[in-house]
Amino acid sequence: MGREWQGLFVAIEGIDGAGLSTQTEILADKVRSLGKEVLVTKEPTSGPIGQIIRKVLHGELKHEPCVLALLFAADRAHHFSSEILPALLDGQVVISDRYILSSLAYQGLFLPTSWVKEINSCVPPPDLCILIDVDESTARKRIERRGQRREIFEKEGDAELIRRNYLRLAEGLPWVEVVDGRGPIEQVADLIWKVVRPRLEGI
Ligand code: TYD
Repeated sequence: MGREWQGLFVAIEGIDGAGLSTQTEILADKVRSLGKEVLVTKEPTSGPIGQIIRKVLHGELKHEPCVLALLFAADRAHHFSSEILPALLDGQVVISDRYILSSLAYQGLFLPTSWVKEINSCVPPPDLCILIDVDESTARKRIERRGQRREIFEKEGDAELIRRNYLRLAEGLPWVEVVDGRGPIEQVADLIWKVVRPRLEGI
């Protein structure tokens, strides 16, 4: 691919309730079991920009969609240069729970995709992005089971629109692989592993 790094950069994507954090952890364990060093990370980050984003997501801070989009892009640029790139240069496998595609799919609901792409253009795409695809009702049941507080995107109907955005984006991007996320945890993990495993050769 002609990348400047030796490692492998994998992003895990999907609507809320698709099982991103669970699948990120399982994938990380599988990669580690091959003796490879893994950095597990997520966006929004827990850094200063990520903390402002969480206040907006929890409704504590009023927001305009373009402000939130810029915050996500800034958080990502800082995340990439301070954590992701150094690990990749060190030859590690980086697994990020959410990355660029989240901004395109979520912020693309309210803003032109071309602009969202533009503000994210200072970071590169991942080597591989796994889009865990689930329908809204499956996702909603999982969120209800978790009993977490809802974020601003967890409104009725939004998830299906975000899902459609994700699937449309996936069609035009060669680095995105769509995985059926409706099955039991282990089954979805196996599907993800089938895609990632061959990419680890030579890392
Ligand atoms: P989420 O993965 O749900 O974080 P946590 O599990 O810690 O609550 O992400 C928070 C929300 O932010 C989620 O609804 C997706 C949204 N989001 C965007 O809208 N754009 C982005 O660029 C990112 C990274 C997340």
